[in-house]
Amino acid sequence: MNADTGKMNGGHTYESNYIEENTKDRRMSLIFSLKEEVGALAKVLRIFEERGVSLTHIESRPSRLNKDEYQFFINLDNKSSPTLDEIVKCLRQDIGATVHELSRNKKKDSVPWFPRTIQDLDKFANQILSYGAELDADHPGFTDPVYRARRKEFADIAFNYKHGQPIPQVTYTEEEKKTWGTVFKELKSLYPTHACYEHNHVFPLLEKYCGYNENNIPQLEDVSNFLQTCTGFRLRPVAGLLSSRDFLAGLAFRVFHSTQYIRHWSKPMYTPEPDICHELLGHAPLFADPSFAQFSQEIGLASLGAPDEFIEMLATVYWFTAEFGLCKQGDKVKAYGAGLLSSFGELQYCLTDKPDLKPFEPQKTALQKYPITEFQPVYFIAESFEDAKEKVRKFAATIPRPFSVRYNPYTQSIEVLDNVQQLKNLADCINGEIGILLLCSREA
Ligand SMILES: [Fe+2]
Repeated sequence: MNADTGKMNGGHTYESNYIEENTKDRRMSLIFSLKEEVGALAKVLRIFEERGVSLTHIESRPSRLNKDEYQFFINLDNKSSPTLDEIVKCLRQDIGATVHELSRNKKKDSVPWFPRTIQDLDKFANQILSYGAELDADHPGFTDPVYRARRKEFADIAFNYKHGQPIPQVTYTEEEKKTWGTVFKELKSLYPTHACYEHNHVFPLLEKYCGYNENNIPQLEDVSNFLQTCTGFRLRPVAGLLSSRDFLAGLAFRVFHSTQYIRHWSKPMYTPEPDICHELLGHAPLFADPSFAQFSQEIGLASLGAPDEFIEMLATVYWFTAEFGLCKQGDKVKAYGAGLLSSFGELQYCLTDKPDLKPFEPQKTALQKYPITEFQPVYFIAESFEDAKEKVRKFAATIPRPFSVRYNPYTQSIEVLDNVQQLKNLADCINGEIGILLLCSREA
């Protein structure tokens, strides 16, 4: 039996693709720094005005790199690319500004576009690297026209999905339910001894509230609603493979892109790609855990606007944690990675003395090579989710970005600039939380 590979997002760890934004919204963003002197900004604004480009938004803050400079963040109507190129050139040469473009078009020195609001995830949901119905020649369902047609139905659901809509309910066939039942029964027998505490803690709740049982494939919508009540994480159906960059960006908003179809009935214990067994048995339980949810979001936040080589490193960190992670629990080691928790063979193998076990250290883990179609020769052990989160946070601080990001859960958006007002808002939030903490500790 081959390994259930548990590839990320329905995915391999693809090199990030920059994809031309194919929407009517042709807005574009720029960040640039200027020396603090009278009339500097006026000069810049004139450049835009003279070329007929209107600014739709502007923010400023003192530069974090150079204390004599100010940084500006602007949105503008991207009516004509040649004009914008000219403007950027002008800013650099005539004004001496340092310019970063936040663009989805791949260009040297530009900061890649990233979603700023949870609704922005709709923009790349359909920019997939392959469509669900296109199977490789070695896929168990390749020669089965019924299975292929079914896969297209699932891909169409995801393709038409928009944030905020309920995820359409699916009536699974008897054959599909049988496949699920086989996988469910086998894996459930291993969980008490092999899965981490968090997984075993949540699993009975999923059985109680989300219809997890041998005879029923749970609905994504039910699981998504349950996760939202636990940690704010939600599921979103995905039609095919997203790039690593897009998949990780979803995590920044506590959104997990999930497949909805099931593996081919002929090989219930094998799948060459993620399917609903992998998502619901492997991933979903952990997203109900607050520490793991934060850890996952931390990886997502680190990825926003990061250069390609860092996306690859973050995707590797994700691979060795959320997909194939082990963690210490008391004097034992248990599995928490979804690729392990959804593979009957590898879940047993990973806790034997055959693989090489190393401590989780993002700087080193990020550089580890790995196979995607066989059992992993190397696993990384986390001390705890809290510890792993702190380490990822430190690793994220080494990613070269001209800005920092923070997720605002009230507006479900990413705050890019830490200007004085934003820092003040953050301080107010922290103040409120500390007040509650002090009150609790006094009562304890
Ligand atoms: Fe996965």
